Amino acid sequence: MEKTILAYDTVALDDEGSALVIIDQTKLPNEFSLLRLTAQADIWDAIYRLKVRGAPAIGVAAGYGAYLAARAIDTDDYETFSREFGKALAYLNSSRPTAVNLSWALARMARAAEEEKSRGVAAVKARLLAEARAIQQEDIDTCRKIGEYGLSLLSPGDGLITHCNAGQLATSRYGTATAPMYLGQERGYHFRVFCDETRPLLQGARLTACELMSAGLDVTLICDGMAASVMRKGWVAAVFTGCDRVAANGDAANKIGTLPLAIAARHFGVPFYICAPTSTIDMATATGAEIVIEERPAEEVTEMWYAKRMAPPDVKVFNPAFDVTDAGLITAIITERGILRPPFTASLAAVMGTAGK
Ligand code: MRU
Repeated sequence: MEKTILAYDTVALDDEGSALVIIDQTKLPNEFSLLRLTAQADIWDAIYRLKVRGAPAIGVAAGYGAYLAARAIDTDDYETFSREFGKALAYLNSSRPTAVNLSWALARMARAAEEEKSRGVAAVKARLLAEARAIQQEDIDTCRKIGEYGLSLLSPGDGLITHCNAGQLATSRYGTATAPMYLGQERGYHFRVFCDETRPLLQGARLTACELMSAGLDVTLICDGMAASVMRKGWVAAVFTGCDRVAANGDAANKIGTLPLAIAARHFGVPFYICAPTSTIDMATATGAEIVIEERPAEEVTEMWYAKRMAPPDVKVFNPAFDVTDAGLITAIITERGILRPPFTASLAAVMGTAGK
């Protein structure tokens, strides 16, 4: 059988444990290339430029990036190690602001180092390797569970819309929003999936369409502005998207264009589901208004993907990479620990163990 993109790890550590290996997602689908990264600046740049992207995959890359930084610190003194390691974590954390999985993974690596410190620097490094591997393995298990919960909401033959790429390329396997689609495909559900192209970086067209087609799903590509018309035709039973950060009240930041999709879904009575591993839930952020929304270079809108710049030379450009969908527009948040329903303030607190705290 032909080897597809799904046969490759989105993020991995090489066999020697000395380099981060990623699929360069900026080149897909026309070119498949694996990048081998060792320098912290190259790992930072790969996250910033979306060579590796999607909240859970960023978390996994950050875990391995932190391990590689630790590995390169040449000292037996834990205090010196800890100072250098702290600088490396802060540097990686500055690569992108919105997906909480980045800071979540780095904080977890910092905690692991502290827990092990009495056993010496070599033991700390070994623990950090194990911790980074655990972050990746847990991501696979998490996505599979999200897939099972998501599938329980669907019927064979359903039409679905997804936005951006919350697929295998954004995680370690299965994806989040795509996990029910993959499991449904294995079980003969014959879903029809509409992929929003996802302006301006085209993750839906380039990545989601590519990976779902690799698994044999029925995929139709639409421009973002076409989603409402597809819903009006009655072709959509549910919307499934991923997210980058869920606030304690259920407001959810995801790729720009998710909010209009949720508004359209509400208008047409289509359920709107956010798929979120608990690593994407940020109970320290009260509402979506507090989420930092990344703004990216104007060229992504005016030039990227076009043979020639397609907009007037001096036009002003606003290019926020994410928007926040109000909790009130979300039918349910699907996590690996279950399907959360409104009121989300209570259901999130219960699942995150913060109720009454
Ligand atoms: O800018 P990106 O491509 O990293 O944005 C990705 C998304 O918005 C995804 O929907 C989100 O990270 C969830 S991935 C499971």
